[in-house]
Amino acid sequence: PSQITDNVQRGNYATLTDKDVAFFEHLLGKNFALTEDLEGYNICFLKRIRGNSKLVLKPGTTAEVSAILKYCNERKLAVVPQGGNTGLVGGSVPICDEIVLSLARLNKVLSVDEVTGIAVVEAGCILENFDQKARDVGLTVPLDLGAKASCHIGGNVSTNAGGVRVVRYGNLHGSVLGVEAVLANGQVLDLMSNFKKDNTGYHMKHLFIGSEGTLGVVTKLSMLCPHSSKAVNVAFIGLNSFDDVLKTFVSAKRNLGEILSSCELIDERALNTALEQFKFLNSPISGYPFYMLIETSGSNGDHDEDKINQFIGSGMERGEIQDGTVTGDPGKVQEIWKIREMVPLGLIEKSFCFKYDISLPLRDFYNIVDVMRERCGPHATVVCGYGHLGDSNLHLNVSCNEFNDEIYKRVEPFVYEYTSKLKGSISAEHGIGFLKKDYLHYSKDPVAIGWMRDMKKLLDPNGILNPYKVLN
Ligand code: FAD
Ligand code: MLT
Ligand code: ZN
Repeated sequence: PSQITDNVQRGNYATLTDKDVAFFEHLLGKNFALTEDLEGYNICFLKRIRGNSKLVLKPGTTAEVSAILKYCNERKLAVVPQGGNTGLVGGSVPICDEIVLSLARLNKVLSVDEVTGIAVVEAGCILENFDQKARDVGLTVPLDLGAKASCHIGGNVSTNAGGVRVVRYGNLHGSVLGVEAVLANGQVLDLMSNFKKDNTGYHMKHLFIGSEGTLGVVTKLSMLCPHSSKAVNVAFIGLNSFDDVLKTFVSAKRNLGEILSSCELIDERALNTALEQFKFLNSPISGYPFYMLIETSGSNGDHDEDKINQFIGSGMERGEIQDGTVTGDPGKVQEIWKIREMVPLGLIEKSFCFKYDISLPLRDFYNIVDVMRERCGPHATVVCGYGHLGDSNLHLNVSCNEFNDEIYKRVEPFVYEYTSKLKGSISAEHGIGFLKKDYLHYSKDPVAIGWMRDMKKLLDPNGILNPYKVLN
């Protein structure tokens, strides 16, 4: 953990007393009001932010969440909602001594309807477990990301997580049909809906999609799950320039449009770091500056395979694609996906990593990686880019052996200024959390920020929900 939390002024909140702990132990039972071994709840995934919470609460029902918040609101005790704690912006851990409210026990899939495709699930259900339940009846959760084995669906909704299928299914504002959220004062707001179409008044569910636990605690949601595709094919291709990457993307949309389900980019430094770090990974091709992972999901295996092979063949004839491999074999498909999924972990495990998650116009998408490499010079060990090309979302990563103030100053706020000049977004999918709260204005107009503050005050007048996050 770095010095970045040292300057935080603790808010005017009450301090936890033995009486408070006794209340929660009575409410939940001693096993679910934890006061020991709290390290894992206090430290963020990137190990950059460490809080000092003395209490972790694990409610098992919405009514318990409601009772906890009602009590905390009356006592002015600050609370940080926590899902799988895989967030990358320090949003899910305490900054000072906030109580951690873990959703881990609210983990049931309540129903999955194979006719309508609608699933109802509790917020603490791990994404991979939810997807398995959906697959059991021939559906799939329209969201997939590398942290699926530990992130919660409630955490995904609260961050409006993107991932690798947005190009096909859109983001969670479209797939989430309804939410149940508990407000700071303990009121349960039932915004559940089992229909795609529901124009009865303000669309309040959207307030809880992407608000990172600052407006309420999501306890349940309903989601529209597409039917799983019969045929999935993955191509992993090598390219010589970013210009060729863009041409290949256009060709993928033109020729594979109706079956395209993912379009990811990995540059050679990102790939090589993962391959060096995890010897079990096998890349089918090597030696190119850029790689793309293109996935198709359709209903006719032979037809889809022909299409993707033709797409690669014609790209090679035009000299845009240098080499590639295509597979429809489920084991091999997974092996290729594993390469992409391990890219962030390769960088995080190798050394200290400054991570940026930005939306940029496609034509300017990759320039910043070269610009940043130049700016950082030998101070940085790796400067690389990868991400969700299909959504104009670049993950720029700058690594160094340990936290290095010199690099920090060269990278920030430069990266935000650069993004802002191009009218991009300084947070495409990870959210603002703690790490990016001072930079929100690079992507949001002051009037909009003013209204965000007013909404926060209206829903959480005592500011107990996830303080020090999103708004500064
Ligand atoms: P947490 O990290 O626990 O919490 C995240 C935020 O949501 C916090 O502000 C927290 O207070 C709040 N929160 C959590 N649960 C609730 C709730 N029930 N109610 C209210 N607030 C809540 N993100 C992407 O968008 N796309 C990716 O492709 C992607 N890939 C990743 C790959 C790896 C290897 C890792 C480590 C992370 C990745 N992430 C990605 C980031 C992260 O996984 C997502 O942000 C994820 O949605 C967080 O879910 P979580 O359950 O871990 O939430
Ligand atoms: C990804 O796409 O791999 C994630 O968003 C994590 C990251 O940015 O490293
Ligand atoms: Zn991502």
